Amino acid sequence: MPTVYVTRKAHFNAAHRLHNPEKSDEWNRTTFGPCNNPNWHGHNYELTVTVGGKPNPDTGYVIDLAELKHIIEENVIRHLDHKNLNLDVPFLRGVLPSTENLVIAIWDRLAEALPAGKLYRIRLHETQRNSAEYFGPDK
Ligand code: NI
Repeated sequence: MPTVYVTRKAHFNAAHRLHNPEKSDEWNRTTFGPCNNPNWHGHNYELTVTVGGKPNPDTGYVIDLAELKHIIEENVIRHLDHKNLNLDVPFLRGVLPSTENLVIAIWDRLAEALPAGKLYRIRLHETQRNSAEYFGPDK
């Protein structure tokens, strides 16, 4: 059986601020621009999760997409949607919530919840034009 990749999309809305406390206010303003706004700002994030594997001969599925939906909801969306990513999310404590750092944190949550080796790619759009992708710590 060949390897097939299946993808599920999810959305969340969240607030954040990009600010590195090790650096000066001026450095932060210059580096992060509007994302350094002191009183936060929001994004409509779009999360794309791709799982790979060989289709199960009994179902034809790589993974039941209803199950994948549930895993994404329980491990990621429920914790991030309508939250402040700097303040409200225990698994993001101490993380500068750039899109890059978010895909790593989301990968770690989902890799633990999914069968070993199934998670293939996380893509997170912060805006329609800007996104980050992650294929796991070994890639
Ligand atoms: Ni931002």
